[in-house]
Amino acid sequence: MTASRSSKEAIGDRLAEARERTFQLIEPLDQEQLNRVYSEILSPLAWDLGHIANFEELWLVQTIGGRQPLHGDLGRFYDAIENPRRSRGELPILRDAELRSYLADVRVRALEVLEDAEIASDAEDPLLREGFAYEMLIAHEHQHNETMLQLIQLVDGYEPVRVDSGPAAEYPSDGPEMVAVDGGEHEIGAAASGFAYDNERPRHAVRLDAFEIDRTPVTTGAYLEFVEATGAEPPMHVERDGEGGWLRTAMGRRDPVELDHPVVHVSWHEADAFARWVGKRLPTESEWEAACAGADPDRANLDQLAFGTAPAGAYADAAADCGAVQMLGDVWEWTSSDFEAYPGFEPFPYPEYSKVFFGDTYKVLRGGAWATRRNVIRPSFRNWDLPERRQIFAGFRCARDA
Ligand SMILES: [Fe+2]
Repeated sequence: MTASRSSKEAIGDRLAEARERTFQLIEPLDQEQLNRVYSEILSPLAWDLGHIANFEELWLVQTIGGRQPLHGDLGRFYDAIENPRRSRGELPILRDAELRSYLADVRVRALEVLEDAEIASDAEDPLLREGFAYEMLIAHEHQHNETMLQLIQLVDGYEPVRVDSGPAAEYPSDGPEMVAVDGGEHEIGAAASGFAYDNERPRHAVRLDAFEIDRTPVTTGAYLEFVEATGAEPPMHVERDGEGGWLRTAMGRRDPVELDHPVVHVSWHEADAFARWVGKRLPTESEWEAACAGADPDRANLDQLAFGTAPAGAYADAAADCGAVQMLGDVWEWTSSDFEAYPGFEPFPYPEYSKVFFGDTYKVLRGGAWATRRNVIRPSFRNWDLPERRQIFAGFRCARDA
């Protein structure tokens, strides 16, 4: 079945909506801020913007449309694997007006190619089947928005154009500290149809022993008790106020920390140490996914505009089947698992998406954060990062054997 005109229009609308959000996030920033290197583990925003356009050009214009790129081999400077983040500020990338035109010109060409593309549920080209390449492009821009928000945390005086706390966070009544998940066979991973990344497939059964998992993410208050007792570092963007309390320092502001909110910006090592300190452990990613069954992404703090977390235990009306809340949204959750291929994994559409990262270097995070766009997240979505990283919007919850 060939996609109707209206489904192509829907793709065009979603591409436009993704771009609108990208521009909304950078609207308060001047050229100097877009080009500045704030941290050696984050790209200058101008690189992210050019990379978003270049990825669109590569897949939607060159690969699907068979057209030549607008700027010759400029794309090599936007290759995320060839150009480590610490070097991206030095590259001869597009900036300012040239960068804006590149974003706009690529989009015009991508929409021309879309007009003629044979998108169909049974398309011969797997890139066009179920509109895969377009879904990938939209998700890619959304995911780069989250990386951009990591950097925006470092911009003094950043004022969001729009703040929207999203679906009302129904405040929970008290609940148990931990909830139980039955042992047995659990289906893990994304189903064969519908958009998902290669690393989420194939869906497969995993045998789990019964376990317990924290009902809510670990709070900042609980984490700071651990910091005070053990001398561990406070989370990134948290510092002493000089009077025995703590301040949150993101975006150049100094606000009292919200002790009842999920802790965020902690590394895997720190999360693991906390879990052991309280006599628990981090969940494996299979345990996490089993516990997430039944969670509702529409009733979660996702989509970037809250500019912060909801209190731990919010959205109690949208709990997962096991009773855990906030599995989706608010903070990414570190798991104990290394980022490995599922049995029967096949790379698609290119080995550099997931395959080159498999091994024991990266740890898996699940569930998305307030800074993740809603469209990106699903229970099977696997994020990965280095265990020492703290700039990501990562917290955690603990587990233990039943
Ligand atoms: Fe990318």
